[in-house]
Amino acid sequence: MTASRTDLPEWLALEEARRSFAPRTLAGLFKVEPDRRQRWTFTAAGVTADVSRNWIDENTFAALLALARACDLEKLRDALLAGEGVNNTEHRPAWHTALRTRPDDPSLTRTLDEEQLRTLGFAEALRAGRIEGSTGRPITTVICIGIGGSDLGPRLVTEALGTPTGPVQVRFVSNIDPAELDAALVGAQPETTLVAAISKSFTTMETLENLRVARDWLAAWTPPASGPQQLDPAHHLIAITAQPDRATAIGIHPKRIFSFHDWVGGRYSLWSSCGLPIAIAHGHQAFLDLLAGAAEMDQHFATAPLERNLPVILGLLGIWYVNFWNIRARAVFPYAQRLRNLAPYLQQLEMESLGKRVDRNGQPTGIDTSPVVWGEVGTTAQHSVFQFMHQGTHWSPADFLVVDEYANSDDKRYRLLHAAAMAQVDALAWGDGILGPQRSTENYAIAPGGRPTNVISLPRLDARSIGALLALYEHRTFVHSVIWNINAFDQWGVEVGKKLLQQRLDRAVI
Ligand code: F6P
Repeated sequence: MTASRTDLPEWLALEEARRSFAPRTLAGLFKVEPDRRQRWTFTAAGVTADVSRNWIDENTFAALLALARACDLEKLRDALLAGEGVNNTEHRPAWHTALRTRPDDPSLTRTLDEEQLRTLGFAEALRAGRIEGSTGRPITTVICIGIGGSDLGPRLVTEALGTPTGPVQVRFVSNIDPAELDAALVGAQPETTLVAAISKSFTTMETLENLRVARDWLAAWTPPASGPQQLDPAHHLIAITAQPDRATAIGIHPKRIFSFHDWVGGRYSLWSSCGLPIAIAHGHQAFLDLLAGAAEMDQHFATAPLERNLPVILGLLGIWYVNFWNIRARAVFPYAQRLRNLAPYLQQLEMESLGKRVDRNGQPTGIDTSPVVWGEVGTTAQHSVFQFMHQGTHWSPADFLVVDEYANSDDKRYRLLHAAAMAQVDALAWGDGILGPQRSTENYAIAPGGRPTNVISLPRLDARSIGALLALYEHRTFVHSVIWNINAFDQWGVEVGKKLLQQRLDRAVI
């Protein structure tokens, strides 16, 4: 059996590194290493991460890399990318990376799978007005019903890419609270609406119930007196699922079902047919660019030496704080309104993947695993949660996400957005001391600084950069799971609540 992580000499070396690091300050680190900013800035697939404002030095970094090697990170990474059965409790691979290679990229030999191509073709037909409802009018609204991974990724990317370029409106519904579906249906016309049910399992209560209500809404359409015919609700439904038989069983036509492999985890599924909403809103080229950006990050993760490997570096920094500084939170502050859904997306990606109490052998991990992931879009966050960030008695390392081109935008508001992020990063690192004469001497005004951040920059907020960013976060999550020796690809903890609900339904309690 694998030795406990805490027995590894590399783990003990990090505990020692933590003890000797304790008296040092961020300011002190910059003093002894004047080119620290350059030394600790890394780029991959167009994404740059400046990690210089972390409690890290060469010794600690070497010790973290040694731990990664002792945990067989390279071997397990290769197994993940080769499609081996890394999801040991569900006995299958977690091979989402196989979905994101583009046929015209000569360095990559795989091609998009058949279902991805069907999905893209369908999206283009919709955008061209070639998909009609049962009364002959072109579809102009798509209501996407899904939850968790069948919603958060597609919703995030659809919004992150900005104003949709096509004529079809895409709306999202996840919650069973009627308020969300009711709002999505406002102004929609059954004749010109398509309802897309997105569910890997096609058993999820929220999705099936919202689908039922949406179908009733379609069926309730009354034709105008002089109108031609009835509306056929089935003609207005499509499904995206890894269980096509279940979708067929509830009356969705097989030609209107887009499937994906069961080795694509729900929270990793936006790259599959589940990305349909993205392609409808922004076109197939945007979707291909998204895949290409992610594929470039995959390539980096697969080949870059660990000491320059961005997902590895960010992952190891996370381990350093959680396990050696007992910091159980991590924040993300995207300075881009279009990324306002990044925090919920990352919460699922990281907390559902890493919120585990037993290791791959079924034994208690004996060490902390997932931090609480939280965040809010900047600058909004500055006026709500940043008091805690600057003066709270405990704190949270944070990723500040910035868009480089905003710094030189013609629109002053973008320049302000970018400058505000950098001002906050400096305030967290250096505290109020950096203000010089403007500093208040009152105790209540003191901001101690020394609080670590990563500054992650994208050249621009386009599909390629977003693809690379999301793949970076996926791989960082995997790195954590390897060090903690846990399975990042199952989510058994959510089953108890689901089963209890079913028991209540069976007893007709609701
Ligand atoms: O309950 C958790 C979960 O299974 C997530 O892992 C998943 O993303 C979500 O529910 C939705 O599942 P499905 O795509 O099967 O409807």
